[in-house]
Amino acid sequence: MIDNIGKISEEARESFASVGSSDKLEELRIKYLGKRGIMATLLKEIGALDNEHRPAAGKAINDARRAISSYFDEAKARLDTVISGKSRVFDYTLPAYPFPKGFLHPCTQVMDEIVDIFVEMGFRVELGPEVELDYYNFEALNTPRDHPARDLHDTFYISEDVLLRTHTSPVQVRVMEKVDPPVQMISPGVAYRRDADVTHLPMFSQVEGLLVDRGVTFGHLKGVLMEFARQMFGENRKTRFRPHYFPFTEPSAEMDISCGVCSGKGCRACKGTGWLEILGCGMVHPHVLEMVHYDTEAFTGFAFGMGIERITMLKYDIADIRLLLENDLRFLKQF
Ligand code: PHE
Repeated sequence: MIDNIGKISEEARESFASVGSSDKLEELRIKYLGKRGIMATLLKEIGALDNEHRPAAGKAINDARRAISSYFDEAKARLDTVISGKSRVFDYTLPAYPFPKGFLHPCTQVMDEIVDIFVEMGFRVELGPEVELDYYNFEALNTPRDHPARDLHDTFYISEDVLLRTHTSPVQVRVMEKVDPPVQMISPGVAYRRDADVTHLPMFSQVEGLLVDRGVTFGHLKGVLMEFARQMFGENRKTRFRPHYFPFTEPSAEMDISCGVCSGKGCRACKGTGWLEILGCGMVHPHVLEMVHYDTEAFTGFAFGMGIERITMLKYDIADIRLLLENDLRFLKQF
């Protein structure tokens, strides 16, 4: 038995000397010094020995136990200094760890880029309220209460006359009420619709544009928006205008750009059409101009509106709009 105790003690010394983590150290402590550990078991076995052998065995076990306790203490002290770094010499001349730097959200970057492009073309930035009167969101935009186009908007109503704006177009009206033509403005901001799936968010961003002056034609609209698309998406993308319907513009159109994934041949990203819709636009409806007392004989205008999340998705080929909200740094750091 005494030989065996010597062997156990030696084994323990080696194990404690090489242990590398606090978890492993705790395992070793339980194995040797725990209530049902090796030393406790040995002590119990003394009872089975002859009277004459007991004292020597008892002493050997107690000595071994004390030795193993000290191996444990040494190992613990060693691990503690490693963890707290006390054993490292601090070198003040080393370069610091790089400090993590923040960056703008991809949608904010795209919004800034869009605003810059139009500001450079002479558009002024105007803002309006997100909690809006029904009058500005619909009525003054040639969309009275019984108008079927209201169904397309899935509006959040606050009361009968107050709502969360469903688009940034009401800012057009607010600005035209205040200033005489010519007007050349854009309005970046948030809008709300009861809508949520892979391409729709209940709260989303838009940039609205409006230009009213003497002799403004659909040709001007096309020129401005084609130049915008060229700067935003590059020289190689084609554009086209498709007839569309908005109550507040006539004629109305949607503008598409050729798909960047397949260069217009047709693929999954463009659902086989070769084209991607990027915005709605049209010539301001005379009713809208009349509502703000503009002289419709003298003045015409064009307007457009685009979704920022949508443009961001197209620009970076993002399949699910919700990625833009989840704040997953693995996603965001790619921009
Ligand atoms: N307000 C329209 C929308 O949200 C976009 C638009 C703006 C269309 C201006 C034409 C003119 O869908």
